[in-house]
Amino acid sequence: MKRTLSKLACGVAVCAIMTGAGVASAADSSVEVLHWWTSGGEASALNVLKEDLESNGVSWKDMPVAGGGGEQAMTVLRARVTAGNAPTAVQMLGFDIQDWAAEGALADLNSVAAKEGWDDVVPAALQRFAKHDGKWISAPVNVHSTNWVWANKKIFDELGIAQPASWDELVAALDKIKAAGYTAVAHGGQAWQDATIFDAVVMSVGGPDLYKKAFVDLDPAALGSDQMKEAFDRMATLRSYVDDNFSGRDWNLASAMVIEGKAGVQFMGDWAKGEFLKANLKPGEDFLCFRFPDTQGTVTFNSDQFAMFSIGEEGRDAQVKLASSIMAPSFQSAFNVVKGSVPARTDVSDEAFDACGKKGMKELAEANASGKLFGSMAHGHASPAAVKNSIYDVVTAHFNGEFDSAEAVEELVSAVEGAQ
Ligand code: BGC
Repeated sequence: MKRTLSKLACGVAVCAIMTGAGVASAADSSVEVLHWWTSGGEASALNVLKEDLESNGVSWKDMPVAGGGGEQAMTVLRARVTAGNAPTAVQMLGFDIQDWAAEGALADLNSVAAKEGWDDVVPAALQRFAKHDGKWISAPVNVHSTNWVWANKKIFDELGIAQPASWDELVAALDKIKAAGYTAVAHGGQAWQDATIFDAVVMSVGGPDLYKKAFVDLDPAALGSDQMKEAFDRMATLRSYVDDNFSGRDWNLASAMVIEGKAGVQFMGDWAKGEFLKANLKPGEDFLCFRFPDTQGTVTFNSDQFAMFSIGEEGRDAQVKLASSIMAPSFQSAFNVVKGSVPARTDVSDEAFDACGKKGMKELAEANASGKLFGSMAHGHASPAAVKNSIYDVVTAHFNGEFDSAEAVEELVSAVEGAQ
């Protein structure tokens, strides 16, 4: 057995020497991709990308770093770059892309972008993160949005609950679900998940005005306002509907509670839909998707983009092929149907999308046209990472009862000031 193995290995080595040129080009045509798509739904979507790329002759080296929202992935990325070993391509969000571009670490994608006309089809809200100093430095694969509610339809029907359209209706619905013995809100106590809910709650209290002043302009008056205190009060109310084991739970396990009929709702970005689909559930029949009450008409978005690190000419061809695959309209449809997000191009038909996807596409376009589209604070599209993390700390400490709402507001003002 041993001898057969070594004979085989030797065969491969000889083969490698004999076809030297072929081996070199095979090495050129591979990409190492660092990402945080490790849940069931995310992995299915990732496979669409992997297979598409492999059909274009580029092989995929997987570098998954578990952890929703990508914080852990960004820590690993920093360590890899510091060690002089940057991956070829990296899933990245908003301000992180801009920060790496400002460090001069990202490759210039202008020639492929010009050839394929990206300027004309990618919404300006995404170009703001995908371009730096006039150069394309990342390829946007999707648009997600964070102000969604995912509900178990059976539980809603059984309890005679109509889709809540206001905060008060939401609270009444959660009371009913809790009284019936279900967990009302499926939640995972991780800072980024708390912050994802906070995106929607702040929008529900103060609309675009408060959201923008607080998270984009970082205006101390807005951060310290009575409306912000009201937002923290709403967070405390929601906290009373989670189960005892919420701390540290991954977001997809919270989705599973709704999927399995143990919990009524989850407040989460539309990547949650990927989990429902993976479990063979159908929108409108098994689950409901609707906007967080009192945020209808507004969209808080994030966009997963793939930034390419400058790793020299050797990996260039594969990087360009990856970027080009990502931007192809047919791929944008196939991928986003599975991922739960919507295309990052304005010229992709909604035909292949389910009811939630069609709603997502329509609302994104409308919010964009009416000036009601805002980058998600929780997902790095409203303010730089240091500010985002300072908000995370306060929101999570408050959610876990360390501060009351009045203290949280004061802490928020000083944390954001200190992070700038
Ligand atoms: C990303 C999604 C991902 C989610 C959970 C978000 O920040 O944009 O693609 O599915 O985190 O990991």
